Amino acid sequence: MNQELWNEVDRYFEDSLLGRDDGLAQALAASADAGLPAIAVSPTQGKMLHLFARMLGARRVLEVGTLGGYSAIWLARALPADGKLVSLEIDPKHADVARKNLARAGLGGVAEVRVGPALESLRSIEGPFDFVFIDADKPNNANYFRAAVDLVRAGGAIVVDNIARSGKVVDEASTDANVRGVRELMTAIANEPRVTATAIQTVGAKGYDGFLLAMKR
Ligand code: SAH
Ligand code: DHB
Ligand code: MG
Repeated sequence: MNQELWNEVDRYFEDSLLGRDDGLAQALAASADAGLPAIAVSPTQGKMLHLFARMLGARRVLEVGTLGGYSAIWLARALPADGKLVSLEIDPKHADVARKNLARAGLGGVAEVRVGPALESLRSIEGPFDFVFIDADKPNNANYFRAAVDLVRAGGAIVVDNIARSGKVVDEASTDANVRGVRELMTAIANEPRVTATAIQTVGAKGYDGFLLAMKR
């Protein structure tokens, strides 16, 4: 483990590749001011989500877990003017911060934050979506994934955040609900013939974690 080096390398990649974005910077500042936890995707991960959405030619994107809207801004910035991002958030305070951040970034017209437990919101959401980003309560990962497979178009993609958990994910006897959530997700995918998937470990500003990438066949 060398967190300082990982931070330095992330800063180098950000400085080299990402450029300045006032909407994103203001969203992080406003989220911190409002007391939200600093658990948004890293800037380089955010840019990756943005590029995935662009590569898919995405017009409709679904996010599960909004927080202050940081990843939502990255995703919404990938959409055409008549595109749509729907982001699901259980905490009204988070949703309020996110809506303000999205509006300040000029994305109020394409991004919609829906408040409530995502499992309930998902019941009334109509697809198809080109891309789904799952980043909410980890014990529900498999439930969100199953819903996402139904909602995503053929050729579309699903990304699930936080699937390595500092390596804890290999402990099959783990009682950590977040680890169990990841392991249930893996089982769900193994039993789901409509998708093909991979998972990538990452180190960086957010420590040692990773993401899963699935594509609907
Ligand atoms: N995607 C965000 C970070 C999300 S953090 C970003 O990268 O910027 C996880 C969020 O999921 C938190 O805001 C939390 O309140 C929300 N959440 C937790 N349980 C939830 C549930 N059952 N339904 C919807 N959102 C939930
Ligand atoms: C946590 C949640 C996340 O989505 C993340 O990327 C990092 C940490 C958390 O709940 O601690
Ligand atoms: Mg996350």
